[in-house]
Formats: sequence, C-alpha cells, structure tokens
Amino acid sequence: MTMQIFRTKNITPDDFIHSGLKRCLSAWDLTFLGIGAIIGTGIFVLTGIAAATQSGPAVVLSFIVAGFACTFAALAYAELASAVGGCGSAYGYSYAAFGELLAWIIGWDLLLEYGISVAAVANGWSGYFNNALTAIGIPLPVALTKAPTLGGIINLPASVIILLLMGLLIIGVKQSARTNNAMVFVKLITITIFVGIAIFNVNPANWHPFMPYGWFQTLPDGKTTGVLAGASMVFFAYVGFDAVSTATEEAANPQRDVPIGLVSSLAICTVIYIVVSGLLTGVAHYTDLNVSSPVAHALQLIGFNWASALVSTGVIAGLTTVMLVLYYALTRIIFAMSRDGLLSPFFAEVNAKTQTPVRVIVLCGVIMATIAGLVPLGELAELVNIGTLAAFVLVCLGVIVLRITKPGLKRPFRNPLSPLFPLLGMLSCGALMGFLPGITWLRFIIWLVIGLIVYFAYSMHHSKLADAAP
Ligand code: ALA
Repeated sequence: MTMQIFRTKNITPDDFIHSGLKRCLSAWDLTFLGIGAIIGTGIFVLTGIAAATQSGPAVVLSFIVAGFACTFAALAYAELASAVGGCGSAYGYSYAAFGELLAWIIGWDLLLEYGISVAAVANGWSGYFNNALTAIGIPLPVALTKAPTLGGIINLPASVIILLLMGLLIIGVKQSARTNNAMVFVKLITITIFVGIAIFNVNPANWHPFMPYGWFQTLPDGKTTGVLAGASMVFFAYVGFDAVSTATEEAANPQRDVPIGLVSSLAICTVIYIVVSGLLTGVAHYTDLNVSSPVAHALQLIGFNWASALVSTGVIAGLTTVMLVLYYALTRIIFAMSRDGLLSPFFAEVNAKTQTPVRVIVLCGVIMATIAGLVPLGELAELVNIGTLAAFVLVCLGVIVLRITKPGLKRPFRNPLSPLFPLLGMLSCGALMGFLPGITWLRFIIWLVIGLIVYFAYSMHHSKLADAAP
C-alpha cells in the first residue's frame, strides 16, 4: 500500500521534448502571458473591497505583504521549472518531488484554484459590465446582477460570460501569443490612463486614518479584518503567474525563459499594484470603494466620466482574457490528470469535429457558470486563495525535498541561500492561509476530503504513471 501511494517517476526535461507542440514562445512572450493572466479582478475590484472592509488606505501594505509571499513562491516555481521542466504546473513538479498522492492533492487543489478563479473573475467582469450598461442608460434589474446572499436572484452576466467563453473554447479559438500581447497592451493602457489622471487628483486627507482596522483581528461573526486579512484577500490579484509554468512545452528555451517569465511578470505586476492601490485610496475615501467597479467609480467621483467609461471598457476586455487563460489552463490540467489515469478518460476525449475536448469544456463551463451566478466575489476569491496558497507551500517544500533527494539534478536557476527562500515562502504563504476566515478553511478541507475519496476510490487503481515508475 505504502509503495503504491508514494510511487514516483523520475521526470526529466527530456521526457517532454517530443510533445509535438511548437516551441515558439520567448521570455518576452511568457512575461506577457503572465501579465495577461495576473492583472484582473484582484486589482480592478478586490482592491476596493479590501480597502473598504479590511485594510483601509493601508491596502497598499496588503499588496506588499502578498507580493513578498508570491515572490518566494515564484522563485520556487522558477527553480522547479528550470530543473524539472515537464508539463509545467505544480502538479507536474510535485509528481517528480513527492510522488503520486501529493501530486494528486496539488492537482485537485489546482482544479479549485483555476475553476473558482474563473467564477470569481466573472463576478468582477459583471460589475464593470453592469456599470457600462448603466452608463449608457440600459441598466439590468438589480435582482439579475447579484448573488442571492447579496439580495439578488442570480448574477446573470457573470454566468452568461462563462457560457460564451465555453462556446469560444469549444469552437477552438486559439489564444495566440499575439492576441494575448494585444490584450495585455490594452490593460496596461487602461492602467496608465488611471494612473495619469489619479496622480494629479490625490487628496492626502483620504489616506487618514491609514490603518483603520489595524494589522489583524477576528470579528465576532468569524470574519477577519486588518492589513494581513486584506493581504490574504488581495493575494487573489497575484493568482495566475503560475500559469506561465503551464506553457513550458511551448517555450523556445524553457529552462531559461520560464523562470524569467515567472519572475519578471510578477515583479512588473507588484509595482503596478502598489502604485494603483496607493492612488485609488488617494483619490477616493476608502469607505466609498466597496462597489463592484471601484477604479471606474473613483474616476467618476473626481469628475472624469469619460475616463471612467474608457477604463471600464479596457477592464471588460482585460478580464475576458484572464478568464479565457484560466479556463483554458483548467481544461489543460484536467487533461494531464486524465492522461495520467488519475481522472476518468471520459474527460480526455477530444471531439472529432471541433478537435477540442468538448466534454471537459462543457462540464467545467456549466459548473463554473452556476457558481459564478450564485456565490459572491469575496467568498470565491478567498476560496481560490486558500487553494493556491496551499499549492505554493507544497511547491516551496518541493524545492527543499528535491535538493535533498536529487542533489545532482541540473538546475539552471537556483534559489540563493537555500533552503532560506523556500522556507520563507512556506512560512509567508502558510501565514496568509492562517489569516483567512474559518468558513473558507472548512470549504477547503471539504474539497480536500472529496479529493482523497476520489483518489483512493478511483485514481490510485487507474494510474498509468504507476507502470512508468522505476
Ligand atoms: N489574478 C487574477 C485576477 O486578479 C486572477 O483576476
């Protein structure tokens, strides 16, 4: 039994040379891919919610704290990407480092991360979309724009956009690097417009009190507040940089370029987040920011209605690509797990006509559209964060384990001062998990228990990699 559970496979970059995918992405493309997947609801929506309910103007500190945790995780990803390569994603790395059971747990965790992220970003998209409809005089009834717990019936636009993306993915729309670069450009222009206007309209009085909720406190209803709780929430803004690792097979020089793409996309986004969150709370009082489209709202408050409309349009386009990349990544991870026999081959079947995995696209689309329509953004984001943080802790641990078990492995990128950085990564990501509310922990544990039941009831007996183990 023990042997079976901890079976491992000696994965090396050579295992993946003949994947058949074209190796065409440069370090620059990968950096843009990262920025494409990273900048989205986190900065355009959650900054407002976190400022209003958890951090106050100190939301900028929340971004710095979360950015540190992500930096250590990114360095761990970079080392594993350069040493293990492979099909990318934490799932592939953990198979090499820990064996099947932990790889399964991480893979199961990634399903939560990517699946719920799409639903959460759809909520952010819906906020800006409704804002745009209202601006042109055709607002939707409130009951159709909010989840039941927020007083509505369903968040219809959030569900519909996912179903539309489902259609796109089925007919085989290709997310080419060029299209992605163009969309990233739109996003960066949108941010530049905001920064260019906000910087001349800051009212320093809005930054007082700077830290109204302190560093951390648990409220009587179990909710958490303060800068560190805010960091656990805005961590969502960084989710997606790990998607760069899923492009390993298409990178021209993966062992050099994937680490560069991971670290530089994260660094660029961290700087952008610090600047935007600082300015947002400078132009509007934090108590005014608990709305579904805070960046556009802040521009309206200072009288720039034209810029607000422009920014809304840019955000709507930008969030669409985040959803598309994350949805695509989700189907890809399910594919990898089905190919390895850990999930049913039913999910890996490609439709002969469309040449896309229609079954898995439809299944994921319907589930995500339902969740997006019925659960509010904040709760979804916290669930994504706990799953992602858990994966990051294990990736950091993977670096330490592989240094011990495979010291001779070629590592073009190495964490300095080993094992200090991966240890700091485990500590900081673990701490951010600790600042999340109890209900999020409960949901996460339920998800993991379901995962373990599936593993022991099905996956363990159908694993194809077990046969490949040495
Ligand atoms: N980081 C992505 C976002 O903020 C998921 O939308």
